[in-house]
Amino acid sequence: MSILESERLIFRPPRPADIQAMTVWLGDFSVSRNLAEVPHPYTEDDAEDFVSRRGRHGDGYYAFTILAKKDGMFLGGIGLHMEQAGPEFGYWLGKPFWGQGYASEAARTLTRFAFERLDLPFVWAGWFHDNPASGHVLAKLGARHNGSRMRDCMARGVKVLCHEMMLTREAFLPKKAA
Ligand SMILES: CC(C)(COP(=O)(O)OP(=O)(O)OC[C@H]1O[C@@H](n2cnc3c(N)ncnc32)[C@H](O)[C@@H]1OP(=O)(O)O)[C@@H](O)C(=O)NCCC(=O)NCCS
Repeated sequence: MSILESERLIFRPPRPADIQAMTVWLGDFSVSRNLAEVPHPYTEDDAEDFVSRRGRHGDGYYAFTILAKKDGMFLGGIGLHMEQAGPEFGYWLGKPFWGQGYASEAARTLTRFAFERLDLPFVWAGWFHDNPASGHVLAKLGARHNGSRMRDCMARGVKVLCHEMMLTREAFLPKKAA
C-alpha cells in the first residue's frame, strides 16, 4: 500500500475516517461542478461507497487522500486510474484550501509516483473549459493540450467542453521534484 509524501502533504489511500470531510467538501457544488464523476448533491453514502471501493490500491486504481503534514487535516483527494485512453489522473481540494499551491504540489507528487514507481510512459488529465486554474496546474507540470471533447459532468447533469492534457515522462522528469 503506497503512502506518498511531499514538502507539505501526505498521501494515503482513503479510509472510513475520511467520509465526513469528503461529504462536506465534495458536497460543495463549486468543487463537484469541476469534476466528471462526482454527483450533486453528494451524500455520506457516496463517500462511503468510494472509500469501500477505492480504499485499497489495485485493478488499475490508485486513490489517495491528501492530508496536511503539519496537522493531519483532510484537504482533498487525488488519484490515478487506468482508462482505455491510458492512465488518467484527477484531483480536488476542499474550497478553503484553494489558492495555496496544494494542487500543484499534489499533482507533481502523483505524477512522479506514476512515472517513477509505476513506470508509466505518460499520464493524462482533463479540465473543463470554465476551470482555468486546473488547466494552469496541468500546464505547469509540463502537460500539453492533446485535444478537446464534450464530457459528462455528473454534478451539472450535462456534457461540458473538456480539454485533455497529456504529460509524458520525458516532459516531467527534468523538472525539480516537489
Ligand atoms: C482546481 C484546483 C484543484 C486548484 O487547486 P489549488 O490548490 O488552488 O491550485 P494551486 O494553488 O496549486 O494552483 C492554481 C494555479 O492556477 C492559477 N489560477 C487560479 N485561478 C486562475 C484562473 N482563473 N485562471 C488561470 N489561472 C488561475 C493560480 O494562480 C495558480 O497558479 P500559480 O501557482 O502559477 O500562481 C481547486 O480549485 C479545486 O479543487 N477545484 C475543484 C475541483 C477541480 O477543479 N479539480 C480539478 C479537476 S480537472
